Amino acid sequence: MDNRPVGIFDSGLGGLTAVREFKRLMPNESIIYFGDTGRMPYGVRPAAQIHVIAGQNLEFVGGRGAKAMIAACGTISSTADDVLTAYPSPVCGVLKPGVKELCSVPCGAVGVIATATSIHSGAYEKSISALCPEKRVISAACPKFVPLIEAGRYTADDDELRDAIEEYLTPMKEAGIGALLLGCTHYGLIGDAIDKFFGGRVKLVGASEAAAAAMRDYLTKNDMCAGGDEPPDRYFTSGAVEEFEKLGRLFLGTDITGRVEYVPPFAL
Ligand code: DGL
Repeated sequence: MDNRPVGIFDSGLGGLTAVREFKRLMPNESIIYFGDTGRMPYGVRPAAQIHVIAGQNLEFVGGRGAKAMIAACGTISSTADDVLTAYPSPVCGVLKPGVKELCSVPCGAVGVIATATSIHSGAYEKSISALCPEKRVISAACPKFVPLIEAGRYTADDDELRDAIEEYLTPMKEAGIGALLLGCTHYGLIGDAIDKFFGGRVKLVGASEAAAAAMRDYLTKNDMCAGGDEPPDRYFTSGAVEEFEKLGRLFLGTDITGRVEYVPPFAL
């Protein structure tokens, strides 16, 4: 038994998709969340910066007593896996669990959407072809999604979001993909809008949800689950606290007002 919290971090609100699923799977666990909104978006930054950011985020959350961490960020998971692996506490990224679940869907062609830095790293295609070489992979960077989501524009009736979805996903629709990996954790927040675009005919695989399940399995296997009296959840943001509380409440379905603390963005 281990009552310490699980640390979860991302560039902003996207990692809340991992929090939501992890809390659903393991309601007794407490979490420490860091949303680095002050430095968002990560997905257009060069790999060298992502390496530095990954180390800073691990130190920040790990230094606050996390027993294990979810790097709830596709950009970090695809670009700085070596930094995650080298950290002394257990860290689960979102790439491997997401790819594993994607490959389990019985279909000939799959899609991957993620940030520009993630897609350009080539890590998704490499990892898919290692696991299921027979699948055809179509990938697309979707740089318009994250700024729209962080601005609270995540619903299927938002014109700009709808246009962006059409622009990025039409080639995949035409190619007849059977499953789509939402490789950026923010994209789970527009899952309904994407599902509507595909008319419900494509299986959406959320990287965050897959990572939350992997963390549950890890804690269970290693006898590290909380057993009561765990500390309250804590949220940190390097951006505007009120905005984070407002959208956080919407995305989590839980009121986090008064639980979000500001930390100044770390220097790069
Ligand atoms: N949600 C993150 C990801 O999964 C980062 C998005 C961004 O800040 O560009 O890649």
